[in-house]
Amino acid sequence: MSNSDAGTPSGSPAEAVDVPQQLAAYGSWLGEHLETRAADREISVDFRPKSTVENDRPALWNSSISDFESVTTVSADSARSVTGATVSRTQGSGEGSPMTDADDVIIQLDRVFKIFGPQPRGRALTLAKSGMRKNEVQKATDHVVGMSDVSFDVKRGETFVIMGLSGSGKSTAIRTVNKLHDITDGHVYVDGVDVQALEGQALQQFRREKMGMVFQHFALFPHRSVIDNTGYGLKVQGVEREQRNAQSLEALRLVGLDAFAHSSPRQLSGGMQQRVGLARALAADPDILLMDEAFSALDPLIRRQMQDEMLAIQDQLHKTILFITHDLNEALRIGDRVCIMKDGAVVQIGTPEEILTQPATGYVAEFVQDVDQGRVIDVRTIMKEPVIVDASMTVQGALEKMDGALAAFVVDSEGRPTGLVALDDANTALAAGSNDLGSVVRNDFDTASPRATFNEVYAEAGRGLGIAVVDESGVLVGSTHVRDMMEEMGRVERLIDGFEREVFM
Ligand SMILES: Nc1ncnc2c1ncn2[C@@H]1O[C@H](COP(=O)(O)OP(=O)(O)OP(=O)(O)O)[C@@H](O)[C@H]1O
Ligand SMILES: [Mg+2]
Repeated sequence: MSNSDAGTPSGSPAEAVDVPQQLAAYGSWLGEHLETRAADREISVDFRPKSTVENDRPALWNSSISDFESVTTVSADSARSVTGATVSRTQGSGEGSPMTDADDVIIQLDRVFKIFGPQPRGRALTLAKSGMRKNEVQKATDHVVGMSDVSFDVKRGETFVIMGLSGSGKSTAIRTVNKLHDITDGHVYVDGVDVQALEGQALQQFRREKMGMVFQHFALFPHRSVIDNTGYGLKVQGVEREQRNAQSLEALRLVGLDAFAHSSPRQLSGGMQQRVGLARALAADPDILLMDEAFSALDPLIRRQMQDEMLAIQDQLHKTILFITHDLNEALRIGDRVCIMKDGAVVQIGTPEEILTQPATGYVAEFVQDVDQGRVIDVRTIMKEPVIVDASMTVQGALEKMDGALAAFVVDSEGRPTGLVALDDANTALAAGSNDLGSVVRNDFDTASPRATFNEVYAEAGRGLGIAVVDESGVLVGSTHVRDMMEEMGRVERLIDGFEREVFM
């Protein structure tokens, strides 16, 4: 029996395959790439590490394609024997899947542990399960805790982002979803399927049909055109050329590269190549996209552009996206929910706003302190119940009804705001002896959607008047004011400062 990742290859590697056994055993990156290629009988590439990284395991784990020189082309079968991809295990029953009642959870990790080392299920697992931290487990057992008690649910159509520093276990987590890693303990379910129980053909088919993957260093085949690169996965699935090209072209259109369909990858910039990667993942129209640092190698401007494009594509397609990044700004920008990991464990899961305004620990607070809160916090969080007044009221009457609120609104019969009474205006009028509310009602007020972020309403807020918060049909649903915004920002600042003291003192 063998694992597809850290396990010893099944049987001895075929002589023709010049991959050091050590490399096959420890290079999960290599395993993944060999396995992908092994699916295609024509093309199987044997990667040999450049000598500097050969005996350096951490370097291997973190290697990219440029760290390897391609030496020989081997048959799919020998590549499989190196990665252990042909080892068949009895099909699991998939019992106990909690997702059979078709709720909207599509990916579920349930108390997953992943231990790297020769005896993953030994003492290291026991210690990790007892709550011992990654460093200590490593000291005590010389095993690496890749994931410790990780649980999360990803909902259908959601963009779920895993964020954490290097080594926190992000890639390990995403790789359990398509079983590029076997897990040591726990369960992984995708659409009701117990992923761990899948083997051989069933696993390959599951990967191809259910999910598309995009990685940081996305390797395109240099001698194939952009459209052929895009349709590569479809070809492996046996889709006919005509159909393949139609689907590939559609995917290229989505990423804005249809004009380059017949170009060579060499003619594309890094950002464009990464887009081909996205198109390739989209071409087979999978339910799930797995994206591991997909934009991290791009320079900031292009990266933002890619994020925007992905958001736009997501608006159209509603895929389930599991996205990995070490950049909190990126996480907050694109995630519906964000999961923060540290040392293999989950620290907090929440909406960008929850992460930012209710950081669960000093660790999260440290991350969020540099984030522009105004970009994430929206008006909905702080809006107040609107005070509604009638233009026929007296100023005195309106002030009583407002009870200190900074603004009140006059609305039409549909509930749409037509006028604003500012507290200051009303007080000034009363002091000047005027009790006519009609004379203080303004119609030069601003409106905002509850979903607008602070940044989007700064200009309006800056006028110092109340803002009418209205729904899509223009009906008044709340009221806000620059002072409410400042108060909320102040609250978050103080919270983060509090954590900082906890962390540094
Ligand atoms: N194949 C492997 N064998 C042994 N240890 C591994 C292997 N893959 C990962 N690890 C270890 O597991 C831990 C988590 O690694 P992982 O690659 O998941 O981190 P990451 O959060 O993706 O980091 P990065 O941001 O650098 O990509 C690290 O300590 C790493 O050294
Ligand atoms: Mg990683």
